[in-house]
Amino acid sequence: MTAYLETERLVLRRFSAEDLELLVALDSDPEVMRYLTGQPTAREEVERVVLPGILKVYADHPQLGTFKAEAAEGFVGWFGLQPTGVPGTVDVGYRLLRSAWGKGYATEGTRALIAHAFTELGMERVIADTMAVNHRSRAVMRRSGLRFEKVYHERFDDPLPGTEFGEVLYAVDRVTWDAGAHE
Ligand SMILES: CC(C)(COP(=O)(O)OP(=O)(O)OC[C@H]1O[C@@H](n2cnc3c(N)ncnc32)[C@H](O)[C@@H]1OP(=O)(O)O)[C@@H](O)C(=O)NCCC(=O)NCCS
Repeated sequence: MTAYLETERLVLRRFSAEDLELLVALDSDPEVMRYLTGQPTAREEVERVVLPGILKVYADHPQLGTFKAEAAEGFVGWFGLQPTGVPGTVDVGYRLLRSAWGKGYATEGTRALIAHAFTELGMERVIADTMAVNHRSRAVMRRSGLRFEKVYHERFDDPLPGTEFGEVLYAVDRVTWDAGAHE
């Protein structure tokens, strides 16, 4: 499989149907899922919902999607550029194995995806969102050149601890990025 993107330490490639075990391993760690669903994802759900969902985005949006990331030590997690429904705007995201935290991989991959969105894909705006209490993720956003825009509140049937502090939206537009926000 040819690479979607390469950085100094990471290679990003599309997932394939053979990659189920990588996603099961990633989503079965409660710490990784803490600010997402709050619990490990069952293998059956990864097989029936998560992986097919990833593959479907490649078919619908050939330049976008969720990409497995490999470093010298092997699979470390994924990065994504997702459609938002707003033309010219994509959503950047990341999820790494706990063993890959604290090495700068998330910031390295996110910066590369933002640059790719503006320079190769012609996007006008890149956004990212997370729970306000997900401080590690917010730090990645800041280090990657995204800027805080707002806090907002959503209603959930079964809210995670910290939902009361809301969700945060970070973003950068092309003009700001061109002017050097990524440096
Ligand atoms: C969010 C997440 C990707 C952040 O990972 P992270 O390791 O904190 O972020 P980075 O990869 O950018 O690493 C930064 C850390 O590596 C350190 N580091 C070590 N070597 C480094 C290097 N060569 N270059 C840069 N930073 C380096 C930095 O100092 C920083 O340390 P600190 O956290 O003590 O300040 C990770 O916590 C995760 O996968 N969480 C679960 C999924 C999730 O919540 N995703 C976001 C939902 S929106």
